[in-house]
Amino acid sequence: MSKLPIAVLISGGGSNLQALIDKVEDGTLDVDIKMVLSNRAGAYGLERAKKHSIPTCTLSHKDYSSREDFDGEMVRVLKDAGVEAIVMAGFMRIITPVFLSAFPGKIINIHPALLPSFAGAGGQVEASEYGVQISGCTVHFVDEKMDHGAIIIQAAVPAMPGEDVETLTERILQVEHRVLPQATKWLAEGRLSLEGRFVKLASANVVKAELNADFPCLINPPLEEGF
Ligand code: GAR
Repeated sequence: MSKLPIAVLISGGGSNLQALIDKVEDGTLDVDIKMVLSNRAGAYGLERAKKHSIPTCTLSHKDYSSREDFDGEMVRVLKDAGVEAIVMAGFMRIITPVFLSAFPGKIINIHPALLPSFAGAGGQVEASEYGVQISGCTVHFVDEKMDHGAIIIQAAVPAMPGEDVETLTERILQVEHRVLPQATKWLAEGRLSLEGRFVKLASANVVKAELNADFPCLINPPLEEGF
């Protein structure tokens, strides 16, 4: 089977991008990262890509007069590179139907909260300020509404009373780095199908709580071997 040609879209540090690259390089994730695209020139994730000889592209949204124009240019660049699916890994832009219709059913995003709670930018900050006892992250298909599409996988982690947001953010990131490569693998294997708002995973394992060395987390659907 040929590898799914994907692009990873970023705006910042790219630690989730790194998790994807690591899983590709150790043979767990069988995709071809054709391009890393950033809307911010200084994004450290671009350096990470270059270190692994992955082609990069920076397109600043500020250079375009409308969201549609910006999305149209992204589509042109990504299609030229042979990209067929999109992984948004810290890409802080809302996309339009111009982008959505170019990759139907093939765009996923990671969000650092248990959706539908705390959608939008700064999900961890809002959760922390709200005083939640449990937080986590969500990988979902992207649709026309922000952080709204059908949910592929969620991971829940504890939030400790009084801890700073950086600590919670780091705890959430640790599980992000596991669930995003896993969801990308399921997408690449063609194992995800939609039934209304529900994502069905072909050959899923049974639910089990995981006792991590550092903190308990509940991940559903459960991670498979290698994640
Ligand atoms: C991650 O926590 C990701 O979930 C979040 O940005 C961070 C990027 O970190 N995305 C959003 O908030 C999207 N609404 P990274 O650049 O180190 O992967």
